[in-house]
Amino acid sequence: LVASFQPKVLAGKRVLLTAGPTFEAIDPVRGITNLSSGKMGYSIARAAREAGAEVTLVSGPTTLPTPHGVRRIDVRSAAQMHEAVMDHIGGQHIFVGVAAVADWRVTNASDQKMKKQDDGATPRLEFEQNPDILASVAATTSISGWPYCVGFAAESENLVEYGAIKREKKGIPLLVGNIGHHTFGQDDNTIVLFDESGHTVLPRADKLTLARQLISEIAKRIEQRSL
Ligand code: CTP
Ligand code: CA
Repeated sequence: LVASFQPKVLAGKRVLLTAGPTFEAIDPVRGITNLSSGKMGYSIARAAREAGAEVTLVSGPTTLPTPHGVRRIDVRSAAQMHEAVMDHIGGQHIFVGVAAVADWRVTNASDQKMKKQDDGATPRLEFEQNPDILASVAATTSISGWPYCVGFAAESENLVEYGAIKREKKGIPLLVGNIGHHTFGQDDNTIVLFDESGHTVLPRADKLTLARQLISEIAKRIEQRSL
C-alpha cells in the first residue's frame, strides 16, 4: 500500500543490486563470512521497486524475505556473485553494489571436512584476492553512461577522506559511505553520499527511509546528467 505513495522516479529503469555478505568455503561445512545482514541492500531493492524499476537482487546468504516484486538470485561466494552479476548486467540502467563482498577466497579449501589432528596441529589457510564486482561492472559502462554505478564503502575511520578517495579510485559517479561497525546488523544507519561535487550527509534514520532517499538522489543525478 505504501508503495503506491512513492513517486515513480525510476519507471522504465532496470536496476541490478548486490546485497548481504558472501561466504567463502574452508571445507564442506565451514567458511568465512562477515557481519552484513543484507538489510540495507534489501531496503534499496524495495525502494527501487516502489519507484517503478524492474529490480534484480543478487544476494549472499541472509535470512531476509525477498522484497515484493523483486527478482532474487541467491549466491554464496564472491566468485558466484561476480558470475551472477556479469550474467545479468546486460541492459541494466543502474547497478548498486551493496554487498559486503569478501576480499579474499581460500585457495586450499578441503573437499572433505577437516579433522582435528592428534598432535594439535592447526590448519594453514591460503588466500587469493576475489574479483572486484563493482570494478568489473564499472568497466562495462558505455559512453551512453549506462549502467550508472553506485558503490558502498564501510570504513572504520576517516570516512569523509577515504570515501572521496575510494569513489575516485573506483571510477564511479556515486559512492555511499557508512561506518561499518555502526551499520552491520543494525536497523538504522547514517550515510554519506560522495559524488564529483563533494559529499552530502543523510542523517541517521531507519534503513528503508535512507534507501528511499538514496533512490531519489540516484534518480536526480541520472536526470541532471541527461539534461
Ligand atoms: N566490492 C565488490 N567486489 C569486491 C569487493 C568490493 O563489488 N570484491 C564492492 C562493494 O560491494 C562496495 C565497494 O566495492 O560497493 C567497496 O567495497 P569496500 O570493501 O569498501 O572496498 P574495497 O575496494 O574492497 O577496499 P577495502 O576493503 O580494502 O577498503
Ligand atoms: Ca573490501
